[in-house]
Amino acid sequence: MKKVLLALLCCLASAGAPARAEMVIANVFARPSTSLNGQWHVIVDPYDTGYFDYRHHPYDEAAKISGGFALDHQPADKSELVEYNFDTSPTLAVPGDWNSQDDKLFYYEGSVWYRTKFDVKTTAPGHRRFVYFGAANYAADVYLNGKKLGRHLGGFTPFAYEITGLTSPKGNSLVVRVNNVRHAEGVPTVNTDWWNYGGLTRDVLLVDEPATFIANFLVRLKPGTTNTIEARVQLDGPEREETVKVSFPSLHLAAEIAANREGLAQAEISAPNLALWSPERPVLHDVEISAGADNLKDRIGLRTIATSGRDILLNGRKVFLRGVAIHEVNPQRGGRAWSEDDARQLLGWAKDLGCNFVRLAHYPHNEHMARLADEMGILCWEEVPVYWTIEWSNAETLANAQKQLADLIARDQNRASVMVWSVANETPVSEPRTKFLKSLVDEARALDGTRLISAAMEVRTDPNDPLHKMVDDPFGEYTDLCSFNEYTGWYDGLPEKIDRIHWSIKYDKPVFISEFGASAKQGFHADALTRFSEEFQADVYRRTLPMLAKIPGFSGCTPWILCDFRSPKRLLPGVQDGWNIKGLISREGKKKMAFEVLKGFYAEKSKP
Ligand code: GCU
Repeated sequence: MKKVLLALLCCLASAGAPARAEMVIANVFARPSTSLNGQWHVIVDPYDTGYFDYRHHPYDEAAKISGGFALDHQPADKSELVEYNFDTSPTLAVPGDWNSQDDKLFYYEGSVWYRTKFDVKTTAPGHRRFVYFGAANYAADVYLNGKKLGRHLGGFTPFAYEITGLTSPKGNSLVVRVNNVRHAEGVPTVNTDWWNYGGLTRDVLLVDEPATFIANFLVRLKPGTTNTIEARVQLDGPEREETVKVSFPSLHLAAEIAANREGLAQAEISAPNLALWSPERPVLHDVEISAGADNLKDRIGLRTIATSGRDILLNGRKVFLRGVAIHEVNPQRGGRAWSEDDARQLLGWAKDLGCNFVRLAHYPHNEHMARLADEMGILCWEEVPVYWTIEWSNAETLANAQKQLADLIARDQNRASVMVWSVANETPVSEPRTKFLKSLVDEARALDGTRLISAAMEVRTDPNDPLHKMVDDPFGEYTDLCSFNEYTGWYDGLPEKIDRIHWSIKYDKPVFISEFGASAKQGFHADALTRFSEEFQADVYRRTLPMLAKIPGFSGCTPWILCDFRSPKRLLPGVQDGWNIKGLISREGKKKMAFEVLKGFYAEKSKP
């Protein structure tokens, strides 16, 4: 945990004025906070006029910001020249992407300046205040009352800054420059099969904490046991050597431990006859952590995950993963999902399919997903957007990917539902690539050795035999699952080919199919050889599932994909119109024929 915090502190003072340290504030929804969600005034700034002067120097290069929109300045009198005004500018909803809120911003990639004003109540002396963002895509420069707080890179991970002593009772100006321009060296890079939604896409909160508070904690089963709870609590503040109490009221268990000089407290609590979490019985235990004036509650499931040979073991028992892949979208809104209701819709559909597992592709989804999956009994695969062709030899790109992974683990490490950390999707085999991914695996194992590590690898076809599919990606050496995407019948041949292919898989590991599928326009019916018909898609499912079931070690799959989603790469008029239509559910929420095919297969699979 300490390593997570340190990793985060180190890579921040990169751009502009000296930034404050970016903080991890986990379990934010259980903390005393004030929501800043709502309508924020925005300035759409394609030329970054608010950020650079006419010589293209950033205004926030120096400690004292020399100009630009960050200052949120109003003319002092009728003669002062100020060529922007947040108060009279349009507004956008936060949380929310800008693309689905305003047709003029549908394709927009560039900077949008967000500004909100807030008052604060006086807090007890010594109390601290933070501003927390659930996510902002892609780069966010954050300013408060004309001072730079920091810059965050990565569109899908939370970040926070301390603002203690920086606020006044009334009219505080919080300004965020959000820029979603794609970069070759970015994570993800310039090419993705999903819409590049920009904006403050998740909750923004003011968080109040005592001088010394619980920054993060980890509660899990001690590795290798089912009757010992391990707790680690990281304090932040002047009184680090506080006594920390960890208690489970419903289990009548508790422990008191003194934190060390670094504010880290660790304990093991004997817990005989613990009810373990599983999709069938998603038991969550109330946990309460207190230290000094701080007190934090959460609900946590305890379970073990492991592999043995070609089996995946949940609580020591073999489990088959009946899954589906999900993008973080609300199809009806045609925009980013962010709320608990959005999560409930997506996971509700997965439950309806008979799933006990979901792949949250291709980037960290909002925190509601894993929390709701804990409650609903759905295991999760979480992933960082190392997608297709990343700059493998670029050290900053690696640091960026490592940080996104560390941020994700710091946020979701207490979620029983989360069983896989995935470090990549469909990345072309090369030495620099495998080295890059290996260091992400090492990072994940160092931060959390209790979950499976994987990635969606690619299949190659034997040049001498088009029916011979081979899985021998060298990266498979380092993962716990042998997981790959397979699109025979759609990108390779027609559905009948699925019946004839045969496999050689290099690794003696559980085999997991992280994607398969076909496109279908909901409501378009024709014979099963007509592309984009529901019949074609259903036929791919009908043939693929039994084919996969014959692969030794086949331990589960997440067909691509639960519902249709916007993609700038899908341009067939009258059929795709900017949507990837491989969903089992359409943008209107209507089920396609293949939905029932998969549901039937899972009903069979879930029989004892
Ligand atoms: C790929 C990729 C997905 C993409 C899908 C498709 O495998 O991982 O992001 O959307 O295939 O082609 O539909």
